[in-house]
Amino acid sequence: MTQDELKKAAAAAAIAQVSEGSVVGVGTGSTANHFIDQLATIKHRIAGAVASSEATKRRLEGHGITVFDLNQVDELPVYVDGADEINPALQMIKGGGGALTREKIVAAVARKLVCIADASKRVPVLGGFPLPIEVIPMALGHVGRELARLGGTPVLRAGFVTDNGNLIVDVGGLVIVDPVELETRLNQIVGVVTCGLFARRPADVCLLATAAGVQTLSAGG
Ligand code: 5RP
Repeated sequence: MTQDELKKAAAAAAIAQVSEGSVVGVGTGSTANHFIDQLATIKHRIAGAVASSEATKRRLEGHGITVFDLNQVDELPVYVDGADEINPALQMIKGGGGALTREKIVAAVARKLVCIADASKRVPVLGGFPLPIEVIPMALGHVGRELARLGGTPVLRAGFVTDNGNLIVDVGGLVIVDPVELETRLNQIVGVVTCGLFARRPADVCLLATAAGVQTLSAGG
């Protein structure tokens, strides 16, 4: 199976997590796009969706799925999204698509965070994928110096502006042995909007697509 076929398989498995009549949180990226396409097949059975990016909103609306503003919604039973890396504790690096801030907000509201991923995303230790960080433009120099002090190699994502009008810095060279501690430290840097570590709020379940089928992983499993 190709990587894209695995992403599609993980996305298809996530449909079983969606409850009748609910509003569904929907992530961003190629795996999430497969989920949106699957969600379209059951759109008459859901109330609608909350989107984690403008691109996701457009795709959902293109399928005729009602998109709610997060502030219109009292509860979000499930949020389904991809990841750039996921470790055995189901902590993740996200933000490869630059949507990390809205993704983290939707994840904070959702009761259950379901990660859908192909097997290549599963790693023992986070940090192989450069960590995306959303930065307020005027703080770019300051944040870059602080990130270098932490031992990372920050690189500005060229020509990219987030849905919130900010910049993305991708930080390489980090071996993330304590994801919660690093997420907390990065959140303290003035000018950082969000870091792409989802450690304080990890996934509750990961649907990991392998050549042998889709595995359902919980933390530690
Ligand atoms: C977007 C994300 C995506 O979930 C992550 O980049 C994975 O993308 P893909 O499903 O295309 O591999 O965090 O901000």
